[in-house]
Amino acid sequence: MNNFTFTNPVKIIFGKDTIKNITSEIPAGSKVLITYGGGSIKKNNVYEQVINALSSFEYTEFSGIEANPHFETCMKAVALIKEKHIDYVLAVGGGSVIDATKFIVAAACFDDSDPWQILSKGLEIKKALPFGTVLTISATGSEMNDGGVITKAATQEKLAFSSPLVFPKFSVLDPTVTFSLPPRQIANGVVDAFIHVIEQYLTYNEGDSLLQDLMSEAILKTLVLEGPKALENPTDYDVRANLMWASTWALNYWISCGVPQDWATHMIGHELTAFYGLDHAQTLAIVLPGVMTRLKDQKAKKIKRLGKEVFGLQATSDSELIDKTIAAVEGFFEQMGNKTHLSDYGLGEDAIKKVEKRFIERGWKLGECKNITSDVVVEILRLRL
Ligand code: NZQ
Ligand code: ZN
Repeated sequence: MNNFTFTNPVKIIFGKDTIKNITSEIPAGSKVLITYGGGSIKKNNVYEQVINALSSFEYTEFSGIEANPHFETCMKAVALIKEKHIDYVLAVGGGSVIDATKFIVAAACFDDSDPWQILSKGLEIKKALPFGTVLTISATGSEMNDGGVITKAATQEKLAFSSPLVFPKFSVLDPTVTFSLPPRQIANGVVDAFIHVIEQYLTYNEGDSLLQDLMSEAILKTLVLEGPKALENPTDYDVRANLMWASTWALNYWISCGVPQDWATHMIGHELTAFYGLDHAQTLAIVLPGVMTRLKDQKAKKIKRLGKEVFGLQATSDSELIDKTIAAVEGFFEQMGNKTHLSDYGLGEDAIKKVEKRFIERGWKLGECKNITSDVVVEILRLRL
């Protein structure tokens, strides 16, 4: 196991009817900005619960944060914060609203220069407003981590940032609010969380971080068992609760302690979203089987372990077990309703060329061994035509 430090300061308030608790989590007298998305919270009673809980506060609303949130939209919220002298932000939504809010609270205190440089140049965040979240979709883990992903619409760039200053102060996780998710978002959430675990688990590493491996397998099994049930019965509370907690644990940095990490599937997927607008998890379901196939020798031990421990597979040879495991992963994504090939979205060689150009320009070397160069990205995507 590698050396590591671990901090996660986010207070989790979990369960039915817990949104009302935000009243006591936000310091009295705060001037609050509520950030949210395209309006789903007004259809499922979440908005009313939030407004009731904030009745003793002075608050302003900022709505219209889009999926894969735009830098341009975030900067409008920053202007509102400055105009209204806001000193606390409450994000009500999924990964997009929470990520946007992380960027907004940092950009509002970023005096140096253009806040886009937090993303484009990795400039350090030195100050941020405090914020809490009310999570409405179990997927990204953003509710309990300090990362975010923002898109600049003008240049079609989707880039990630992180800072310990943008951990939420608290996150309310009420599984009942996810009852209203459409099947596409149920599937996206399960697939995204599954691949978050894979990015931290499915590396060359095997056997020296047993607790992290077993914990990862527990999260993966929970997603495999409960995901299809959520599609069949969207209002099963325990299923939703298990999915919500599993998704949070998939990316709250616990399972990444002391282990190598991959993240190539995410980085390649981000380009497909930036250029073609595919949902985040739709891109991942296409890319991951390609990464597993192209890197099956490097990841062989872990792929076999995934097949046996999570999918209960057996085979007469190692290569058969590896192939069966990759097929099982792809089959699970399809079972959830996420397509797994570029052609399912009308994409082909042109898209691959566009992504290749970006990786050449950036000179990125991805994966746990930093051996996924632009030419390997092309090979991975050609496996997914
Ligand atoms: O905008 P509204 O109207 O609220 O609708 C949303 C949106 O259209 C809808 N929705 C959310 N909760 C709902 C609901 N509809 C009905 N009932 C509810 N309870 O779902 C749609 C998708 O929401 P979004 O927030 O985009 O989904 P998700 O949580 O999957 O977030 C995706 C974003 O998170 C980033 C992705 O790149 C993407 O931009 N990620 C963030 C990560 C992080 N911070 O750690 C890690 C991830 O890998 C990911 O990159
Ligand atoms: Zn993700």
